[in-house]
Amino acid sequence: MAMQLDSVVPFGRSQDEYIKMFNLTAIDLDCSILGAGDGPASFNAESTPLGSQITSVDPIYELSGADIQQRFETVLDDIIDQVKATPQDWVWSYHSSPEDLRYNRIQAMQLFLKDYESGKQQGRYQTAALPTLPFPDQTFELALCSHFLFLYSKQYDVAFHLASIRELLRISTEVRIFPLLTLMLEPSPYIQPVIQACQDWGYVASIETVGYELQKGGNQMLFIRSQ
Ligand SMILES: C[S@@+](CC[C@H](N)C(=O)[O-])C[C@H]1O[C@@H](n2cnc3c(N)ncnc32)[C@H](O)[C@@H]1O
Repeated sequence: MAMQLDSVVPFGRSQDEYIKMFNLTAIDLDCSILGAGDGPASFNAESTPLGSQITSVDPIYELSGADIQQRFETVLDDIIDQVKATPQDWVWSYHSSPEDLRYNRIQAMQLFLKDYESGKQQGRYQTAALPTLPFPDQTFELALCSHFLFLYSKQYDVAFHLASIRELLRISTEVRIFPLLTLMLEPSPYIQPVIQACQDWGYVASIETVGYELQKGGNQMLFIRSQ
């Protein structure tokens, strides 16, 4: 048993975690980037002042910052308690302990909240949901999807995954998805069907190992680009 969640939770990671989860280089951070399902991550908030061009989309952005914070606070203790109850399922290399993880998630949420209203006005946080996003073809150079696709394989079926990834490839030159494990720490059953579909559509899809691992065994991302 790893993590039981009835629905997708608004849990956000930092810019440094995004860099490590997606093997982002300085050149990548200079691209126009879409963050799909960015929720209360602080990737956009931390990267924008450094010159990156990031658009984050998430259905949760229909809510006010106070409401997103309240949803986060509702799930925080349960998640940390589940992590503490399953010590064998987690790798404490990046975060040193469940308490450190909790602190990091609160920090990310606070940075996100400080940026949220102005970012919304600037169009950097847009309310939208996979599998249909409101952007013209090839708007972005890089699309990132962290802790939504594959992770919630029980809640979203293979058809949803295929439609979502096809949509990300329509609007972005390259797509990276992390992690490839489900909440139950099993490889998502949709990885192979997705790789096959990407090849059928004329893309190259490869699995890369990254330098970030919190879920045990969760240190791989899927990288998809044109041939
Ligand atoms: C666990 S959070 C991950 C947040 C962020 N990507 C990170 O890794 O820090 C998952 C996010 O997926 C969002 N989500 C749920 N359904 C979605 C959909 N259909 N399209 C895009 N995002 C969705 C949720 O609102 C939530 O913010």
